[in-house]
Amino acid sequence: MFYYDGRHYDSREMHPENDIAFWERQVRRHGDPVLELACGTGRITIPLARAGHSVTGLDISASMMNQGRRKAAAQGVDIGWVEADFRDFDLGGAYSFIFIPDNSVNHIETLEDLEACLRCVRRHMREDSRFALDVFNPRLDILLRDPSKRYPHSSYDDPDGGGRIEITESNVYDPATQINTVRLYYRLPDGRTERSDLICRMWFPQELDAVVKYNGFEIESKYGDYDESPFRGDSPKQIVICKAAGGQGP
Ligand SMILES: C[S@@+](CC[C@H](N)C(=O)[O-])C[C@H]1O[C@@H](n2cnc3c(N)ncnc32)[C@H](O)[C@@H]1O
Repeated sequence: MFYYDGRHYDSREMHPENDIAFWERQVRRHGDPVLELACGTGRITIPLARAGHSVTGLDISASMMNQGRRKAAAQGVDIGWVEADFRDFDLGGAYSFIFIPDNSVNHIETLEDLEACLRCVRRHMREDSRFALDVFNPRLDILLRDPSKRYPHSSYDDPDGGGRIEITESNVYDPATQINTVRLYYRLPDGRTERSDLICRMWFPQELDAVVKYNGFEIESKYGDYDESPFRGDSPKQIVICKAAGGQGP
């Protein structure tokens, strides 16, 4: 699948530009050691480690992490890479700052799975640890678009050097499950088209706050973007920073 092919992922030109500076500020504020869940190819993990932080990156995809390992080795930075599912992990220690950036929580499809992930996170926190997650603020105008239409998405240079890859997308949203199935059509330089489907479970603002709260966290801040502006209805993001409620996790 193209979406989670580490080399293609890094070649794509649509990553947020200002999230790395945001996460660096958070890590400076909350301290080491740091655990990034769904670290992918180390887009954020590697700059944090380069800045001198002690960082562990966990991801389920070997392709994404192998790309991360190659880049970290080339830059001479030391990162603890863990191949695991963020819904079921035990690293046997506590971290000062744990975060799930860049909409990765949108890949969690059910409430039970998000709760399993939050249980694992809480087990790796101390009283003074902080946990942060960063998801879309759902936009009904995008979710409810005509599923038969294709929209421009992005384009990037084929990492195998063949030319430009153009991506268009369509989406089908099911309001009952809150799952948005995004169909990405990769038009390859040789004229073929490959389709990658991506499941994006929407977490609505009050729902997200309630899930976090009723799973043992206390929200300290909720930002609407990487500039740390307060969350509002029209914010592009929901970035929630929390601590474990009532001290140490279970
Ligand atoms: C949007 S990418 C984000 C990667 C990286 N954090 C970044 O900002 O570039 C989403 C990542 O979530 C990972 N992922 C999806 N489901 C996962 C799971 N259940 N456990 C761990 N990682 C998962 C994917 O393998 C992928 O690397």
